Amino acid sequence: MGAFIEAIDLHKTYRVGKIDVPALRGVSFSVQKGEFVTIVGPSGSGKSTLFYLLGGLTRADSGKVVMDGDDFATLSDAQRTRMRKRKIGFVFQKFNLLPTLDARSNIAIAQEISGNGDRDPTFFLRICDLLGLSKRLNHRPSELSGGEQQRVALARALVNKPAVVLADEPTGNLDTENSNIVLKMLRQSNHELGQTVLMITHNPEAAKFGDRVIHMRDGHVVRPEEDPQWTPH
Ligand SMILES: Nc1ncnc2c1ncn2[C@@H]1O[C@H](COP(=O)(O)OP(=O)(O)OP(=O)(O)O)[C@@H](O)[C@H]1O
Ligand SMILES: [Mg+2]
Repeated sequence: MGAFIEAIDLHKTYRVGKIDVPALRGVSFSVQKGEFVTIVGPSGSGKSTLFYLLGGLTRADSGKVVMDGDDFATLSDAQRTRMRKRKIGFVFQKFNLLPTLDARSNIAIAQEISGNGDRDPTFFLRICDLLGLSKRLNHRPSELSGGEQQRVALARALVNKPAVVLADEPTGNLDTENSNIVLKMLRQSNHELGQTVLMITHNPEAAKFGDRVIHMRDGHVVRPEEDPQWTPH
């Protein structure tokens, strides 16, 4: 069986005025179905850029992403959007919660827009319970702590039981206790549902929750010993 997710020679350069800022300079790797892969690397090494490309949120300059046999680049915008909503749960580096909705609606909205038709209320409550959110569901993001907002963002990503979870620094702003709740939830979801998880993290402790680590530096995938921040255990 082929890989479930394939990144093939991805290049992406941002243009700021007249200056080119290369973010990805030829990134290739593959991930098997059900794998939990962590992506580590210094700030600016291209991790979030990769996250957006893997999720079909931006287009590569060249190279491609193939997910479950579909090449994003050959899909229409509408097809790509549908695939994203059905297959992928996103946890963004900055939460991206809707400020006017309470936690319950912020989580439920993922179910509404997915079109999956599988709105499992028991699963919704279980996720909220496991993430310690049951008593916070009527609060808006501004009435929640950073850790709670991050957990709402994770609940939103998982509630649809997506085949793929993409998480960009899901523990970036959290203390150890909250980090552990988030990491255990990702691991549990990966085990129980056979989800494929790609998690970006700065934290070597968090990276250990995965099956395998991909190291990035200056827009490339590098060997672990080429990553100055990495301390093997
Ligand atoms: N929208 C943008 N416009 C211009 N340059 C950008 C943009 N987004 C990212 N970059 C640049 O692309 C490079 C890679 O950025 P990216 O956000 O992918 O890094 P990162 O590894 O996620 O960093 P961090 O760990 O700080 O989140 C950096 O040099 C960054 O300055
Ligand atoms: Mg980033």
